[in-house]
Amino acid sequence: MSASNSAQIHKNTQRLDQICATVPVIPVLTLDSPEQAIGIGKALVTGGLTVLEITLRSNYGLSAIKQLKKALPEAIIGAGTVLTPEQYDACVEAGADFIVSPGFTAELLHHGSRSAVPLLPGIASVSEAMQAMALGYRRFKLFPAAVVGGVDFLKAIGGPISDLKFCPTGGIKPTNAADYLALNNVMCVGGTWLTPTDAVQQGNWQAIEELAKQTCTLTSS
Ligand code: 3PG
Repeated sequence: MSASNSAQIHKNTQRLDQICATVPVIPVLTLDSPEQAIGIGKALVTGGLTVLEITLRSNYGLSAIKQLKKALPEAIIGAGTVLTPEQYDACVEAGADFIVSPGFTAELLHHGSRSAVPLLPGIASVSEAMQAMALGYRRFKLFPAAVVGGVDFLKAIGGPISDLKFCPTGGIKPTNAADYLALNNVMCVGGTWLTPTDAVQQGNWQAIEELAKQTCTLTSS
């Protein structure tokens, strides 16, 4: 790792710490239209969840990042499900404040280590964490958290490798979020439960705002 990459990734770690300290939960969103994006985005931010992850799982994802960066200047907008350097660049161009990937390739990690927009790479094992650590990464998404051991995995990895911090996602719900948030190595959690399908289909943004408000009261158990 060159000296400049090492300085950049250190800065990116600090920026991720700031972002993840803002909220207990980052809603993971798949948005299909401008109406949906603004309805859901406004509801979540008004409800107090000011950090959003907009995935590239829908065709509208990239445009939604652009739209909400303009419409909700008080929000921090991340791009999720970023799989390639090309997608990374497109999200930066769209205005994303941070980038999330479900896993990583060497190419993606190298790209993230040179970017001023921080990458939160996904890992699912200790060896993956070690590979990314070799490039300077210290902050990770644990994905799919519940499948790979959840709270037990995080407790176990905190023994041998204590300077890592995680945003676990995948299987986190209101019923188990506090167990994750109680761990020293968890910064915040992510999940899709803030946008239940029926509320989204009915355009019931008020229900989503209420859910966000309840979620903001979540602390460690
Ligand atoms: C993610 O990309 O983080 C997950 O799809 C979130 O998983 P969940 O639907 O179990 O919250």
